[in-house]
Amino acid sequence: MADANVYDDFVRRLAATIRGATLYSADHPLVQRGVDALAVLSNTIAQKTDAIVIGFIGDEVVVNGARLPKSAAALVGFARDVREREIEKITIQRGVTCDELRTFIFELPDRRATAPLAVRLQQKGVRRVTIGRLNVENEEECSTGIAAAKQVYSTAVQTAEQLWDAAKAGDKPDPNAARKIIDSLAKLVSQDRTSLLALTALKKYDNYTFTHMVNVSVLAMAQARSLNLEGALLREFGFAALMHDIGKVHTPQDVLNKPDKLSKDEFAQMKRHVIDGAHILRRTPEMPALAPVVAFEHHLRQDLSGYPEDIGSRSLNLCTQIVSIADVYDALRSNRIYRQGLPSDRIKSIMTQKDSPAFNTRLLRRFINLIGLFPVGTLVRMNTEQIGVVTHEHPADPFRPQVKVVTDRDGAAIDAPLLVNTWEPDGRGDFAWAVVEAVDPDAVGIDPLTYL
Ligand SMILES: [Fe+2]
Ligand SMILES: [Fe+2]
Repeated sequence: MADANVYDDFVRRLAATIRGATLYSADHPLVQRGVDALAVLSNTIAQKTDAIVIGFIGDEVVVNGARLPKSAAALVGFARDVREREIEKITIQRGVTCDELRTFIFELPDRRATAPLAVRLQQKGVRRVTIGRLNVENEEECSTGIAAAKQVYSTAVQTAEQLWDAAKAGDKPDPNAARKIIDSLAKLVSQDRTSLLALTALKKYDNYTFTHMVNVSVLAMAQARSLNLEGALLREFGFAALMHDIGKVHTPQDVLNKPDKLSKDEFAQMKRHVIDGAHILRRTPEMPALAPVVAFEHHLRQDLSGYPEDIGSRSLNLCTQIVSIADVYDALRSNRIYRQGLPSDRIKSIMTQKDSPAFNTRLLRRFINLIGLFPVGTLVRMNTEQIGVVTHEHPADPFRPQVKVVTDRDGAAIDAPLLVNTWEPDGRGDFAWAVVEAVDPDAVGIDPLTYL
């Protein structure tokens, strides 16, 4: 109980000092006193426990596993404020300095800042105050971020392969396996979209069929999320997207992989996958009703041109419209046996061709905002001829991302990669750093994921 009181006192002081920081400057005595007291208190607490982990769950505040008494409106307001910034957890490590605490206290409430708080803290050298998400099943730090996303993604690709094999053998794809994988992808889309989207940007072609299924599912759910869909409906969209091409199990392999233009006969065979897919999905029990609809509709355009032909009048399902954007985008971006994936700026100009009836314009615009011009994980060439990895997008200016520069001018790896905000002008108002173009990881032999 004594602990809970100490924690309660600590969180109240923290909340009060942050409030003070919105009213006074950093050298105001009130703020200084607050910071000093917090530093002493943090280190006293952390002496015993190594770190103070403050979690925010609903209106409740939990410190090192102890729930604080729910009383003061000030704490409830603080918790709400923090959660509004999508922070679920603040960790303060033993040895935290006054400087680190002061920086955190001023950065947290700064609403004008463009970069996310975690990035700003890192840039300002704050090491011992970190923010993050709570992970209820697994408290480990490593359960978030690119490593965790990688694991979910590769499990998803394996599951996609199993679903495919089952459908090909004439069995019914196991909806439970699919559901499980959709659950974890949907969770990641909500919690760590950046990592997941970075993974979909890998241009592998050895298992295109399965990565395509997963990528379309992820890209569709990311769009659905941006339309504020969540829960069961979000997962249903992801499910339908995952299965959109399942009818291709009946398409001859040589037609599927043909590099040249298909003959009339071959194209007719290819077109059948939308009907076959709808059949397979309709007869699979527990498949969401949306799945056969999307499989049937996904090659139809807004004006109902495309295929299947002669279907009479209908309005395309929202999920179909989302999936067809994700589908074309992923197909253009992926490396295939017969051609290199296109860079995202080229894809965007292809997809946004004026007066094209292919896509719903409003959804497409939204999608392009979502993906960005240089999505996180893109390898880019800078104006200095150096190569970098996009680590963060500028919310308002897609041309000016944050980049981790990883080579020198001659393309040799540098020991300490340099993090640059290309949106920041130098002292004379010029932009010292600029992204010139996206480059293919294989062409320069750099795996961008190792830098994320
Ligand atoms: Fe298709
Ligand atoms: Fe597809």
